[in-house]
Amino acid sequence: MTQDLPQPGAVKAYPEPDAADVSELLLGWCGADAEDADDAVKALGALDDDARELADRLYQSIAADMGGKKWLSWPKVTEPHSLLGLYPLLAAVPDMLAYHRERGIDEDLSRKVLVDVGEKLRLNRRIYGRAGLDVANWFTGHVRGALYQLGRLQFCVEGPDPEPFVGMHIRGEGGPLTLDAVRDSTEWALEFFPAVFPERYDGPEELVFKCDSWLLDPQLRDWLPERSNIPGFGALFDLEGDGGPVGNRTDLWRFVFMRTEDTPVEELPQDNTLQRSVLAGIKADVPWRSRLGTLNLNRLGL
Ligand SMILES: CC(C)(COP(=O)(O)OP(=O)(O)OC[C@H]1O[C@@H](n2cnc3c(N)ncnc32)[C@H](O)[C@@H]1OP(=O)(O)O)[C@@H](O)C(=O)NCCC(=O)NCCS
Repeated sequence: MTQDLPQPGAVKAYPEPDAADVSELLLGWCGADAEDADDAVKALGALDDDARELADRLYQSIAADMGGKKWLSWPKVTEPHSLLGLYPLLAAVPDMLAYHRERGIDEDLSRKVLVDVGEKLRLNRRIYGRAGLDVANWFTGHVRGALYQLGRLQFCVEGPDPEPFVGMHIRGEGGPLTLDAVRDSTEWALEFFPAVFPERYDGPEELVFKCDSWLLDPQLRDWLPERSNIPGFGALFDLEGDGGPVGNRTDLWRFVFMRTEDTPVEELPQDNTLQRSVLAGIKADVPWRSRLGTLNLNRLGL
């Protein structure tokens, strides 16, 4: 896949961030923890020529597709430099800001969307016990201007032309997933997308919202307590197809247990209701799956 990336400098000169840029962007814009920012500065100094060339090529892939949909497929870029993907993303922040300005998007929203970077650095440290950004390509949606944080939820321009849908995504940090929070976010998105992307969306009535997540598995209703927000969120969607692979190890180990995928079941943490419920299901051979669904706006009263 590396061979599919544009060559260094193919679109525009790579504004390679220096240590001061990395620190300022991570602490001032991305809400990163000081230890992640410090490690990112150290890791920058350890990049060899090949790694720096790859960072340039990754940046070119962003620059070549500003305003594009979804996120880009990148080759796995974490070995041996677990933070390699971070630098081209930080280099693209000024491009993102310029794109947002062109589209009339307030700087406050530019800041809000970047906070996800700090969160995923924290998640990586939790999963792997060290600094890293294992899904760096996810953030190509943010910096290319496809994805926005509107209240509790993230929304992304996705799906086929000429009528892309709006993908819904859920950060871990940001509070409980209450129906009020989901309604407020969705109301915002109904206004935002046709206003910001009039060439893609004719009006609120044209918008279709889709979500693909472990949170939509209806089996969760049988295992989580009444007070849990997750089944109520899942029930807002009309489900399609049979779902992802049985077991859904990738997502559950990452998002529920915050462990690497090779962690044996007997070593999974059981610190809260969700972990205990999902683990009880695993032990009872529940075929957990990720599910795809279309948001039913009526169920939100919209
Ligand atoms: C989506 C999310 C915000 C829902 O949180 P919520 O509204 O608190 O959910 P619930 O009300 O159903 O939580 C029930 C219980 O599970 C816990 N819980 C919720 N999400 C958890 C998570 N990701 N990891 C561990 N425990 C979690 C809560 O603390 C609560 O436990 P408690 O009763 O012992 O305090 C949360 O699951 C989360 O942060 N997920 C990670 C991000 C994610 O999965 N995104 C989707 C990717 S496809």
